[in-house]
Amino acid sequence: MPPSSSSSSILYILLCIPCRNLHQYRHGGAVHSFVLPPSTMKRAASMTTSYLSAQVQGSFYAAAGAPSVDMTTYDLPLERTIDEWTAVVQPPSSLREGGVFLRAKDSRGELFVDTLQFSIRRGGGLGLILTEIAGGREDGIGITIIEEILADGNSAGVGLVPGDSIVSLSVSTSNGNGDVQTTMVSTECMGYDATIDAITSLPPSTSSDDVVNLTVKRVRRQPRINVRLQYPPNSDEDDVTIELFAGENLRRAMLTRGIKLNDRLAKRFDSGGSGDCGSDGTCATCVVGVARGMELLSPMGQQEEQILSKKPRWRMACKTVVGYGMVEGNMTLQVNPRQW
Ligand code: FES
Repeated sequence: MPPSSSSSSILYILLCIPCRNLHQYRHGGAVHSFVLPPSTMKRAASMTTSYLSAQVQGSFYAAAGAPSVDMTTYDLPLERTIDEWTAVVQPPSSLREGGVFLRAKDSRGELFVDTLQFSIRRGGGLGLILTEIAGGREDGIGITIIEEILADGNSAGVGLVPGDSIVSLSVSTSNGNGDVQTTMVSTECMGYDATIDAITSLPPSTSSDDVVNLTVKRVRRQPRINVRLQYPPNSDEDDVTIELFAGENLRRAMLTRGIKLNDRLAKRFDSGGSGDCGSDGTCATCVVGVARGMELLSPMGQQEEQILSKKPRWRMACKTVVGYGMVEGNMTLQVNPRQW
């Protein structure tokens, strides 16, 4: 089922996935769907949606910056999501707890798993249809996703999409003396029955204003940046186009794709020497001219701004992140701009 893992510490779990197509699966007679009944009284207007936990995916957003675009642009169709979900066992480490976690197979290296939070009114139920797409194990491990969001249910319009997998739910209850107790259940990588058991184990709703906080995982594609690289007119190099992903460091991305950064006119700014400073921001061998797409790059830091103060269209590739703000688009860069 899984692609080969680059880390020996990650084990893929063997799950029974009856077929790759939800439609076929449902007509195969093994459907496990559960309707959390919709409320006819309280609709989506009273709900709030929070994307706070988008930052839970820390390493991804730390590089690309907080999204400045509508992230639903990068959602996948349900059928593709079903194909991509898999489960891995992660042993505990000093940085994180161990457990079984959702992951995208991502054989083409273009996806990421996002984490999102939603607050949904509880009265009358959530109005979700859940479906198990992998499971059949006695230990309850599996993968259960949202198959449908009922149009007249409490979840309509909050931002959930089919293919999302609920990984935890929490509710807060008051004992009447001002004490608030929060109960959380984890449902990550659970089969259908275990998921329903966890959801129904939550304390009952006591007020029409009660909400349940849902954390879901969603497979998304990474924003793409198409970069046309132009070499100096008197060089022998032909223009090339490379594809980068949001959050990549521009210098590293170019070097790993075989682009030559070798401006013989560059000089170190610190010692007056020459040569590659290795991303220190002092040699300028990595400087590129930005003919198009400046808005796709991360803001300049103070050091870069000072060094390139007289060249407003130049950037130090080693200090630059592409697709900043999770934007995608097209760019044209001039390599070794001193030679133009
Ligand atoms: S590699 Fe030296 S300034 Fe970028």
